[in-house]
Amino acid sequence: MANFNTLDGVSVAGKRVLLRADLNVPMKDGVVGDTTRIERTVPGLIELADAGAKLIVITHFGRPKGERVAEMSLKPVADALAKQLGRPVKFADDCIGAAAAAVVDGLKDGEIALLENLRYHSEEEKNDPAFAAELAKLGDIFVNDAFSCAHRAHASTEGLARKLPAYAGRLMQAELEALGNALEAPKHPVMAIVGGAKISTKLDLLGNLVARVDQLVIGGGMANTFLAAKGVNVGKSLCEHDLLETAREIFAKAKAANCEIVLPVDGLVAKEFKANADYTVSDINDVDANGMILDAGPKTIIDLNKRLESCETLVWNGPLGAFEIAPFDTATVSVAQQAAKLTKAGKLLSVAGGGDTVAALRHADADQDFSYVSTAGGAFLEWLEGKELPGVAALHD
Ligand code: 3PG
Ligand code: MG
Repeated sequence: MANFNTLDGVSVAGKRVLLRADLNVPMKDGVVGDTTRIERTVPGLIELADAGAKLIVITHFGRPKGERVAEMSLKPVADALAKQLGRPVKFADDCIGAAAAAVVDGLKDGEIALLENLRYHSEEEKNDPAFAAELAKLGDIFVNDAFSCAHRAHASTEGLARKLPAYAGRLMQAELEALGNALEAPKHPVMAIVGGAKISTKLDLLGNLVARVDQLVIGGGMANTFLAAKGVNVGKSLCEHDLLETAREIFAKAKAANCEIVLPVDGLVAKEFKANADYTVSDINDVDANGMILDAGPKTIIDLNKRLESCETLVWNGPLGAFEIAPFDTATVSVAQQAAKLTKAGKLLSVAGGGDTVAALRHADADQDFSYVSTAGGAFLEWLEGKELPGVAALHD
């Protein structure tokens, strides 16, 4: 992932710059909800527009599967983008053909257009070369600024990079640099925290991490499968009893790689999965046969927070407990705040991402102090798995 072409030294004045963004934002009743992805895209757009580019932004939105699904139009996103930019955004109601060409041909230097949803065409997801060629007609150079789509080998992420001179956008660049610092050439000791419900979805990720980090903290429902593999009775807790052998293989792999797997030593145990359910604090070897472990307990929190003090690098994916329901957010909040505090003090490099993680860190009010919080879901996970992302590979120089 190390070598990719950046925009440094590239002259864009007067050129048509076709920029793949990820403006796949949450939307309800035609109104954009969380605008983080738009906000993060904006500085890179301003840089290009101010350098005199004719900027043409392309993105997918939702999964319309090749149909023109009205609810998946990017028109409301164009308005939200214009608002965040503080500049007008022209909108074309198709991403190829006459409608797109008319808008692109009308752009003056420094102006910005957004084209309609790429996935209105099924050829996008098929990485169809003819479709990529249609898109390529609209630009002189291609900028991929959508790390969060880089795990997809689609026409607008992979195919286009083969048709036009291709560069990583500023957001893609920042993301790749932050992730590289955390896992490719990190300062040791490195801790990874992996939480969430199931190990079945994260086997490749765990396998890759044990080979790269010094301590692998496992939390959330996943921890129960590892505990059960060690003979701990986890009661009625979420647990993949059919994967105990797989968990044992990961223990063995970790041992061979000199990676310590860190599991909870206590938990908050409840009989019901709901907010404010009655719970007891149990030693992990003492879990009630009818109970469910819904969060890591106080001794575990102290242990993790202490361990973090002697780490240089932290990679975090997934919550440590059922953070959506109080008080089972306690461990996630406490450890996130400790990581944020150490990062702010310059003692830790911390990178987080994937699915629920951003929401969990936000809930802990810790996200702004992490070194980098990725808004990527699937792409972040595939990166943690050590996979080459096709959208990034296509930018290698
Ligand atoms: C995301 O939201 O994770 C990205 O935009 C990719 O979307 P996709 O999972 O529909 O490809
Ligand atoms: Mg996704």
